Amino acid sequence: MAFTVAIDGPAAAGKGTISKAVAARFGFAHLDTGLLYRAVGAKVGDGAEAIAAANSLSTDDLARDDLRTLAAGQAASKVAAIPEVRAALVEFQRRFARQDGGAVLDGRDIGTVICPEAEVKLFVTASAEVRARRRWLELGGEAADQPYEAVLAEVKERDDRDMNRADAPLRPATDALILDTSELSIDEAVARAVAAIEAARA
Ligand code: CDP
Ligand code: CDP
Repeated sequence: MAFTVAIDGPAAAGKGTISKAVAARFGFAHLDTGLLYRAVGAKVGDGAEAIAAANSLSTDDLARDDLRTLAAGQAASKVAAIPEVRAALVEFQRRFARQDGGAVLDGRDIGTVICPEAEVKLFVTASAEVRARRRWLELGGEAADQPYEAVLAEVKERDDRDMNRADAPLRPATDALILDTSELSIDEAVARAVAAIEAARA
């Protein structure tokens, strides 16, 4: 039976961490939809055209090892503002969401556009400063190539672009549970997501 968990929110809010934990706990398949936009952005960097790249995306494209960089995040949010790019990726995401056995998808528009009928919708957020600090620590902290301030500027620029685009802007679905993780440990954030899913399954 299909059961969809939609997890949206801004960069480094903890969407991926929560998604992986609930997927493991409930045996759901997990799709990090940001990877689709990162892969399109990376292909455009190779000289291809964004809409064509979105229409011909393959699993090899998703396996590139350069998709997690700050630059790839910026490239992703630029191509993600192109309606034809978004349209090219809708069907794959919807099919994934409705597979037997349940699925969790994390991104920006899962609860609003891709799966408005999702059984559970979470909007995971945290202050820009907390999120930038998490991303900076992931990049190595004091040993990172970028100072914290540069990561904060990058996070804010990307959030701004994602929230203000015309097509599928980042915003909570009206029926989403808002989960602010600014002062939550990973275990606490996961526990709240698990509780919301258990309540919906009961
Ligand atoms: O997927 P998204 O960009 O929303 O964030 P993530 O990759 O799941 O998490 C960003 C970083 O924040 C990771 O290094 C997590 O370990 C850390 N973190 C978290 O996810 N949740 C907390 N409550 C605290 C830290
Ligand atoms: O991990 P993080 O939250 O930093 O970013 P991501 O989820 O990998 O997404 C990268 C970019 O792809 C975002 O800044 C959005 O512009 C775009 N995206 C989107 O528009 N819609 C989605 N469902 C997922 C990502």
